Amino acid sequence: MSQSRIALFPGSFDPITEGHLDLIRRAARLFDRVVVTVLVNPAKQSLFTVDERVDMIREACAGNSGAGQIDVDAFGGLLVDYAHRAGAVAIVRGLRSSTDFEYEQPMMAMNAHLAPGIESVCLLASARRAHISSRLVKEVASLGGTVTGMVPPAVEARLLARVRKG
Ligand code: PNS
Repeated sequence: MSQSRIALFPGSFDPITEGHLDLIRRAARLFDRVVVTVLVNPAKQSLFTVDERVDMIREACAGNSGAGQIDVDAFGGLLVDYAHRAGAVAIVRGLRSSTDFEYEQPMMAMNAHLAPGIESVCLLASARRAHISSRLVKEVASLGGTVTGMVPPAVEARLLARVRKG
């Protein structure tokens, strides 16, 4: 009997972008199930609440017709503990640049130390999405620029409403 291969796609997702979605869909072609999981970190200031971020990801991933199933959840504490509870074999992250690699490498090494059985898998961001980040999308929106195409339409609407409210 073959076992289902589960991967986590963790992050802050404040908010989810088209860059994240591309990586999630690509990961769903490699694994039977991808759990997109939002970090609950009360110490980190965010534009959207965890529930709002989970809702936006669910909406954006609904109707995905790719190979693997995509689920959405939130987690607090150690990522590897959540990975064990979820039965995940891998943690997937995206790399846009060498700066991302510098940021990811110590986390991957720490996770490998804590949970040697769980692989970190990095997917390279596609060239046309490599400039997209939640941080820059928020900055552009807050300064009146357009973020169309960089986030799903429903996220764009929520983002504009939020930044205009101040
Ligand atoms: O989108 P982000 O903010 O770059 O995501 C970072 C995230 C959530 C992957 C990372 O902060 C994380 O895994 N946090 C959980 C805490 C943890 O497990 N720390 C020890 C190993 S790095």
